[in-house]
Amino acid sequence: MIEYKRTAKQDLPKIVALNRKIFFGMYSREPYSLEEYQARLSSVSSMIFVAEENSELIADSIAFEKDGAWYIWILGVHTDHRRKGIADHLFEMNESYAKSHGHSKVVIKIYAVSSATQELAAKRGYCTVETGGEKDEKFLIVELFL
Ligand SMILES: CC(C)(COP(=O)(O)OP(=O)(O)OC[C@H]1O[C@@H](n2cnc3c(N)ncnc32)[C@H](O)[C@@H]1OP(=O)(O)O)[C@@H](O)C(=O)NCCC(=O)NCCS
Repeated sequence: MIEYKRTAKQDLPKIVALNRKIFFGMYSREPYSLEEYQARLSSVSSMIFVAEENSELIADSIAFEKDGAWYIWILGVHTDHRRKGIADHLFEMNESYAKSHGHSKVVIKIYAVSSATQELAAKRGYCTVETGGEKDEKFLIVELFL
């Protein structure tokens, strides 16, 4: 059974280890290191949601407030566990957390390489509000009003 829960920054080492596998080869740069996660999260109040199966970490999302919106910074699901609705559930957890904490909008930046996330966000009703970048850095910014 898949279990979803909130976790804290002390779990970052295992989350980063999972994300290094999930994001390996997706972008022209290396997946973020633990130090990069710690640096990005040092000045924000983040919320980390994870999914586990048999106590094994299989997916995570990391989000925080940015420019007045709830910003999903990281979202990934282990390759062996895709198309089971896990990312969809993590989106839902973020949206409901954001709403209950007074936010009216959820935002995510999606690089063109992640067409799966584009599909998922569109299915959840997110609208594209900005596009940018060149070649493999092309991205969309999508948002959902809560
Ligand atoms: C994108 C990602 C998070 C999706 O995770 P997931 O748990 O497999 O997604 P879900 O099972 O919740 O999918 C929900 C819906 O999203 C869409 N979707 C998900 N993966 C898709 C794919 N590979 N191609 C097309 N649509 C897809 C579908 O509409 C799907 O519904 P369906 O399965 O009923 O057709 C996962 O593929 C991943 O971790 N990719 C690499 C990292 C990444 O791109 N992160 C996002 C950075 S912005």
